[in-house]
Amino acid sequence: AQANIGVIGLAVMGSNLARNLASREGNSVAIFNRSYQKTETLLAEHPEAEFVASKTYAEFAASLSTPRTALIMVQAGKGTDAVIDELLGVFEPGDIIVDGGNALFTDTIRREKAVRETGINFVGAGISGGEEGALLGPSIMPGGSDESWVTLGPILKSIAAVAEGEPCVTHVGHDGAGHFVKMIHNGIEYADMQLIAEAYDLIRRGTGKTPTEISDIFTEWNKGELESYLIEITAEVLRQMDASTGRPLVDVILDQAGSKGTGVWTVQTALDLGIPVSGIAEAVFARSLSSKPAQREAAASLPGPSSQVAGDDESFIEDVRLALYASKVIAYSQGFDAIVAGAEQYGWNIEKGEIAKIWRGGCIIRARFLNRITEAYAENPGLVALVTAPFFVDVMTKTQDAWRRVVSGAAQSGIPTPAFSSSLAYYDGLRADRLPAALVQGQRDFFGAHTYKRIDKEGTFHTLWSGDRTEIESVGSSH
Ligand code: 6PG
Repeated sequence: AQANIGVIGLAVMGSNLARNLASREGNSVAIFNRSYQKTETLLAEHPEAEFVASKTYAEFAASLSTPRTALIMVQAGKGTDAVIDELLGVFEPGDIIVDGGNALFTDTIRREKAVRETGINFVGAGISGGEEGALLGPSIMPGGSDESWVTLGPILKSIAAVAEGEPCVTHVGHDGAGHFVKMIHNGIEYADMQLIAEAYDLIRRGTGKTPTEISDIFTEWNKGELESYLIEITAEVLRQMDASTGRPLVDVILDQAGSKGTGVWTVQTALDLGIPVSGIAEAVFARSLSSKPAQREAAASLPGPSSQVAGDDESFIEDVRLALYASKVIAYSQGFDAIVAGAEQYGWNIEKGEIAKIWRGGCIIRARFLNRITEAYAENPGLVALVTAPFFVDVMTKTQDAWRRVVSGAAQSGIPTPAFSSSLAYYDGLRADRLPAALVQGQRDFFGAHTYKRIDKEGTFHTLWSGDRTEIESVGSSH
């Protein structure tokens, strides 16, 4: 046995992680791929890396020191189960199998339970940062047992991104906790991307500025409180010109956004948990709407507003920046609500502040203001809504007027801003003194005798709507 860590699946993420591992002091990396050709390519292209290549699972296991640790980087789904089955045949109790793909956390819970019966550890680890992150330092969100973390922790710390001196990895919680948090990360990523896209669209349609000019605006924004990876790459994408047409690349890319499913999972899970993640949901729906060409074509002649709201470009752009900031805070606040609810539902002890910390570097949603989230949870670990932490109250105070101007102006001008608008509606709903949910309860009681509670006394009540309309106290709980 010569290697202390193995990687299975040598597509770009797997290869880059293997190279990252091999580049760190003290690591020797076993590598395996279903077709040996990919292994050979990796060996040939990176003679500098200390790889131990294998052609079979048995050789792979024999090349690893114990406890054996293998990182699976194959396409999430059935492929993962097949690799796990192979490893179970050649690994021993105490060994560790890590799934680094974007697995659905409930699959991870199922797999962990099954693998644990054999005495082998199974860890679902979310890995964010794309190809570059994998090579240079990703943000890593591992779940799994405490026992596995003893071996795995130092290895993952050695390859993770570093933010303010700290590695962007923490033991998130047991079994599926890591993949759950990675799923929420991706949900926030969807919201963040959609919000930035709406900001771009508002400025483009609202001021007529070119993508290059808007790129400069994003570059400027990236120097302030919105500083983040996604703002940075947005500026790059907008600056890119298409070689064949000479037009901005963004104008020749088909405007139909795809997805691989993690955003949908976030929303489905949040629906089950009863957590409004409206910003994320709108981002998912915006991608769905974009990908309906027949409907869009049929609807293209529907009437729009007769005039656009006009105003001063500079103050409008500043309003959009503030609206983006406010909506972004809401997206993170909703994402953290989902983490809290998931942790409660699945029995995970997730440190919210630690999650914000490991998202400061390496991952797609890395951003300057994540430090503020860590601070908010450090000040008050029982914070019931992130947006109510003092720092974020200040942000809302500073941004809300601009946010309202942007959303109402967009509505009047016919520019769709689903994520901006729904985030504002969520914010106003959350802070409302009274909600019309009282009326909804009345309606439910009217047609279905679903009962209601009162603000002035304990108990459950029903009005005899089809009788004399007196109120009776209902036995049994409201439903
Ligand atoms: C990351 C990314 C990564 C990937 C997602 C998004 O954190 O590195 O989230 O996991 O880009 O799969 O994919 P879709 O937009 O295709 O759903």
